[in-house]
Amino acid sequence: MRNIVFGTDYYPEHWPRERWETDARMMREMGLDVVRMAEFSWAKMEPALGEFHFEWLDEAIAVLAKEGIVAVLGTPTAAPPAWICERDPEIEPMDENGQRLHFGGRHHDCQSNAAYREHCRRIVTAMAEHFKDNPNVVGWQIDNELGNSHDGLCFCPSCEARFREWLRARYGDIDSLNRAWGTAFWSQQYASFEQIHAPRRTVTGRNPSQALDWKRFTSDLVCDFSAFQVEILRRVTPDKFITHNMMGFAEKVDYRKLSEQYDFASHDQYPGGFFRPGEPDPAMGGAALDYIRSLKKAPFWLMEQQSAITGWQVLGRTPRPGQLGLWAAQTVAHGADTIVFFRWRSCAMGTEQYWHGILPHNGVPGRYHAELSAFIRRFKPLMEKTRGSMPRPETALLFSYDEAWAMGIQPHHPDLRYTGHLLTYYRALQKAHVPVDFVSAEEDYAGYRLLVAPLMYLMTPDLAARLRSFAEQGGTLVIDMRFGVKDGSNLAHTDVPLPGLAAEMCGMEITEFDCLRYGPVAVSWGSETYEGRLWADLIELKGAEALASYASEFYAGTPCVTRNRCGKGWVYYVGTEMDEPFADRLIAEAAASAGVAPLPFRMEGLECTLRQGDQGEFLFLLNHTDEAVSLPAEEGWRSALPDQGDVIPPYGAFVYTRA
Ligand code: GAL
Repeated sequence: MRNIVFGTDYYPEHWPRERWETDARMMREMGLDVVRMAEFSWAKMEPALGEFHFEWLDEAIAVLAKEGIVAVLGTPTAAPPAWICERDPEIEPMDENGQRLHFGGRHHDCQSNAAYREHCRRIVTAMAEHFKDNPNVVGWQIDNELGNSHDGLCFCPSCEARFREWLRARYGDIDSLNRAWGTAFWSQQYASFEQIHAPRRTVTGRNPSQALDWKRFTSDLVCDFSAFQVEILRRVTPDKFITHNMMGFAEKVDYRKLSEQYDFASHDQYPGGFFRPGEPDPAMGGAALDYIRSLKKAPFWLMEQQSAITGWQVLGRTPRPGQLGLWAAQTVAHGADTIVFFRWRSCAMGTEQYWHGILPHNGVPGRYHAELSAFIRRFKPLMEKTRGSMPRPETALLFSYDEAWAMGIQPHHPDLRYTGHLLTYYRALQKAHVPVDFVSAEEDYAGYRLLVAPLMYLMTPDLAARLRSFAEQGGTLVIDMRFGVKDGSNLAHTDVPLPGLAAEMCGMEITEFDCLRYGPVAVSWGSETYEGRLWADLIELKGAEALASYASEFYAGTPCVTRNRCGKGWVYYVGTEMDEPFADRLIAEAAASAGVAPLPFRMEGLECTLRQGDQGEFLFLLNHTDEAVSLPAEEGWRSALPDQGDVIPPYGAFVYTRA
């Protein structure tokens, strides 16, 4: 297959047929190679049961193919048509109050419902059969952003029945479940699996162990919903690729498990999305991209890259001149081989009228089109060379769905967020030009020098042993607050003092803790004073050294950050959530003791990444600020793009190479 480098999300059915040739020509002129289509077109493809109309899509594919543009088709299962809901109303999902959510938006489907599965089987099979021999359809996207829009997924009788099956398989007998869920509390014990429901709305509180299993179950259900479509497509169209557009750190589905089904991972990235308060965050953007690359440890596709101002009922800011190109460059910098821009033309109708595309409503190219065209011209030749290359970080950040879910169920402090907390470390690593991979709780950490494992609240003996052996063999391990409080069932460990299974490797014990509901605590480290936020562990040393100590509160003078020798390596423990300068200091210390080599050009506001491959090394420099930055001379690197000087403009992206 030829290289597919750039594309756009295209909805020909929203526009008059006469416009399609113009669109296709303009796409070719812009340098686009691919479109994604049809992921919301079920009603048009099957307006009545078994009555298929693919002729319009055949025609659109043919029009695009004339301009050399190929297609990825989405299975349309995120938006079942009205006639399906009318025929089988029980496919509509139910919320925690037992209330059905109705037709009129999207994702109004229950993924366990047998009737819905049959409808999905029919449309996916029909699409696969129809397009299997079309060489211009190169691949499939399963559904659209699985797990999106379902808060807690669906609580209907079908999902409850499936939840019970899932629990039976996990626990075998009801006594084991009672133990694992701690149902002695508040008289919650069950006599049989039949008594168990989805975590419906309760009068007060909810069993955290049940809530965690529900998260695990719903994640498995989404994976199963995808797998059954994948099975059909692999059988009927084995030569076409299969992917899915994921959403970074969205936690409805375990993307590690989900992405095992696909040929490569895809992701949707909206750095200036209206739903994000404040300025676009380069750390959030970089981390999401690193996360997606880490899923399959391979280059990925960006299936929806922001191409304009965004909004639904309210709007975000318009991207400033240069930002669209900068964000797309960031995507490449972190390992994408293909970028598909969302969307081609701003839609004149429906919920997303203000989620603009490359073209405005009137279809006449403006600034977004000009900036993205310039970006494509500049980056396309380079991306022929970076294809297949990968960052090779020496540092890993551990992201675990179990931890994210358990912290979401009991966040401790109202402002504590699992991903937000991880980002305090990521941001410091990004500023220090230390590249990062994300790892799961299950894998081998041997290839890394520095492993940062924040908020490891649930801890099993196996994971604790693997973390310890990483340090013993010479790695530097950073762990922090709430380590090892609970077991895998979300029950508190009772046999060891905190930090539980890490107490020995940390050389200290936590005697007490403080939830910082009245504001931050001061922390002094040498001559500097920083802020500890949200939480404070009170630490007693048992062999470790104190690097930083609290400087306010009744525990002033007691340790906040400790370091302990563990075999050939080090274990750092941080008893709080750090403010930015504090995290910078911690990361600088930990990276130095791990012997991690930072990338060059360390300057305020500049992000730096490195991709390495057959055609050399590529160093990306991204200026996330609105000011030009003069670059120092660095030995050995030469320009990989034609128009680079020694001043990187506001929101500019430079790439250097060496063989
Ligand atoms: C994504 C979604 C698209 C579109 C876009 C803008 O999350 O996959 O279908 O809705 O956001 O809202």
